[in-house]
Amino acid sequence: MVLKHPVVRVIINLFDGIPRVKGQAVKTEHHTVFSDSKEMSALSEESVDLVVTSPPYPMIEMWDDIFSAQDSGIKKQIQKGNGADACEAMHRLLDQTWKEVYRVLKPGGFACINIGDATRTMEGDFALYPNHARILSYLHTLGFSSLPCILWRKQTNAPNKFMGSGMLPTGAYVTLEHEYILIVRKGPKRVFKTGDEKAVRRQSALFWEERNTWFSDIWFDIKGTVQTVKDKNTRKRSGAFPFNLAYRLINMYSVKGDMVLDPFLGTGTTAMAAMASGRNSVGYEIDPGLKGVSTGLKTDLISVSRQIIHQRLFNHVDFVRQRFETRGNLKHINLNYGFPVMTAQEKELLINDPLDILNTGENRFEVNYATIPQKEFCKDWEAFFNHGNGSQAMEKLKKKPGKQRTLF
Ligand SMILES: C[S@@+](CC[C@H](N)C(=O)[O-])C[C@H]1O[C@@H](n2cnc3c(N)ncnc32)[C@H](O)[C@@H]1O
Repeated sequence: MVLKHPVVRVIINLFDGIPRVKGQAVKTEHHTVFSDSKEMSALSEESVDLVVTSPPYPMIEMWDDIFSAQDSGIKKQIQKGNGADACEAMHRLLDQTWKEVYRVLKPGGFACINIGDATRTMEGDFALYPNHARILSYLHTLGFSSLPCILWRKQTNAPNKFMGSGMLPTGAYVTLEHEYILIVRKGPKRVFKTGDEKAVRRQSALFWEERNTWFSDIWFDIKGTVQTVKDKNTRKRSGAFPFNLAYRLINMYSVKGDMVLDPFLGTGTTAMAAMASGRNSVGYEIDPGLKGVSTGLKTDLISVSRQIIHQRLFNHVDFVRQRFETRGNLKHINLNYGFPVMTAQEKELLINDPLDILNTGENRFEVNYATIPQKEFCKDWEAFFNHGNGSQAMEKLKKKPGKQRTLF
């Protein structure tokens, strides 16, 4: 019966003799621990593949209370106007979590830490507190190796903003409009040894054109358009980062089925991005007030993830169309979808749609995934671009994800 469908025929032809779903993620588990990440006793040594996180930023006023609640000396330093000591005391608190991060990461595992520097006037003295440098140097003492970091250029609503003496030299300050994503690794490169591990890695590949943008050292294009926190005030209060930021990092530095940790989980963006990517996750959050937020957000998970996945696939097909129109066909064919890809590394790429999310216990969730490719993206693409009305057909494809499938 399935053979009647031209799309499926392409796949079956392509799949003659190839073990198609080997090592693929079918189910993932997610757990939030509402306690202090200075001691992550629920996690054993070398049990985590990737850390994606953003701590409270030292010397940014919105986090003063959370730091002071953990060390009362901090409040006194701030009141005295002693910025340098307050900042150092805040970092000493964070250091304890970084030490735990090192303990629980597997050798070869990455930690991606989103952090912004702070500017603040204390006792009339305006200064920069370079949080990224302080964190990075502590990570080195723990034994982490640094890799090139990413500058996340944030969109600003006030391009003309200036600080200090304005147009008059020499008392004006550069506007701080970027944050850092520090990227460090524990030990040498991860090795994918077994046939299964290698197969999962190939399925977890990125598209060539995604790689070119995602591995750029400046991210201009993370706008936070797909936000899981709808309430803007909650986002402001929680300091949530955009879903796409976590989603990218997870796809760049882990494979399907890996365990992703966020020791400063906040509203749960990292957990949601892990769910959308077929990775397991665990998060620590000290503020029990965020319990409701992170549970509530899960209701959107399936539709948000499927939109993002649909957009990735659509962007790829559109990239192929443009290439096809300007330079002819691409060399390789993806075995799951049948669309052309730039490199042999993308031949087994498969993005699994999440199908459902189940609440399996207190702050515990399980996500099930489709193990077949999205039907609307499985075509004889060469014929489609040769004979179809390219732009009309693309418009149709653009619209929205196809019906949610129940097939595994
Ligand atoms: C910058 S926010 C993280 C936002 C998160 N990335 C998101 O998208 O919602 C930092 C979070 O760390 C939490 N936090 C601060 N200190 C903590 C600690 N010692 N252990 C666990 N969580 C902590 C704060 O309550 C806050 O929610």
